Amino acid sequence: MKKIEPIYLDYAATTPVDSRVVKSMNGCLEMDGAFANPSSVHLPGQRAAQMVSEARAAIAARIHVRPQEIVFTSGATESDNLALKGILMGRGDRYGHLITVKTEHKAVLDTAKVLDRAGFEVTYLDCDSTGLIEVRQVADALKENTILVSVMHVNNEIGVIQPLPEIGQLCRSKGVLFHVDAAQSIGKVPLPLNEWCIDLVSLTSHKVYGPKGIGALYLHPGVQITPLIHGGEQERGLRAGTLSTHQIVGFGKAFELADTKNEAPKLEALRARLWEGLKSIDGVRLNGHPDQRSPNILNVAIPGVEGESLRLATEDIAVSSGAACNTDSPEASYVLKALGLSDSLAQGSLRFSVGRFTTINDIDRAIALMKKEVARLRVLASFMPNW
Ligand SMILES: Cc1ncc(COP(=O)(O)O)c(C=O)c1O
Repeated sequence: MKKIEPIYLDYAATTPVDSRVVKSMNGCLEMDGAFANPSSVHLPGQRAAQMVSEARAAIAARIHVRPQEIVFTSGATESDNLALKGILMGRGDRYGHLITVKTEHKAVLDTAKVLDRAGFEVTYLDCDSTGLIEVRQVADALKENTILVSVMHVNNEIGVIQPLPEIGQLCRSKGVLFHVDAAQSIGKVPLPLNEWCIDLVSLTSHKVYGPKGIGALYLHPGVQITPLIHGGEQERGLRAGTLSTHQIVGFGKAFELADTKNEAPKLEALRARLWEGLKSIDGVRLNGHPDQRSPNILNVAIPGVEGESLRLATEDIAVSSGAACNTDSPEASYVLKALGLSDSLAQGSLRFSVGRFTTINDIDRAIALMKKEVARLRVLASFMPNW
């Protein structure tokens, strides 16, 4: 019997590539397309370079900056590494201080840990029970040797939006650099970098219907950074390696198509419908701030069910029990624990994330399945008093 495809509600983990993006990428792969090395001076090389330059312009336009402020990387993980290590290590001494938040993505937290072990000073700010931090906490943590503050925009697990404009203003007024991981933002929430005081921004393509393995770091004019990858003069010497034309062109097309104004209300409506349905399950509660949040992510705690059983029972819905990068870890989500959830409640939580191709039918089927499975698991749990 043919296995039914699960209902895909994991767009925060990754998105399918939009067919218009695939088409744009296909034009860069074969002999009759822009396949040549964009660093080559001959005509085919120039053609590829032109495609890269148009993609760079589209990405820059989406976040209201200039094309020359974009450095291509392999994704937001590399951008976060480049931002944190490139700024702190670039100082040439071990006296720098970094401020970040306990609910950041591992790409920031694990990088901060490496810096910590290398002798730099790192402060990890707590969030409140809704997942938010206050600008006052950043102000209190600033020290004479603070070089960089790193706070994400949209949290990938709970969808809450940190108060970036206020933190940016504080950092700018104190002469401290401000880095933002905006991997989850594009197409969901506005990111007007021309209005906000942000110095470095990590971006990725695969959360926005573009290909995996390509991203960028935005650098505000004048920000000095030390490269992590050496071996060529690409990207103004900041990131060596032959530019991946097809990936970059797909990334550019994906950002060009990302239309927050029109798409966000649709995502919001789907998420609201899902929440309406799920909250009728007894005891279900929302994880994260109820209003200050991205329109596509819904993280819910389901008391009275055991985490692993919940995951197995909901196999017909492709959802996540934490960040996609942490699926090998049997531990409860560190993000949910930072909000004050117990281990068992954090393990009995699921992240649903809707996207461009989600339908009302998907949502209604997912609600019906969740209601049925949670009821079944709770009956089972009533026979196992230790759950
Ligand atoms: C907030 C955040 N930062 C960084 C990353 C890593 O991005 P990439 O997969 O492009 O390396 C992700 C993706 O899971 C993310 O959600």
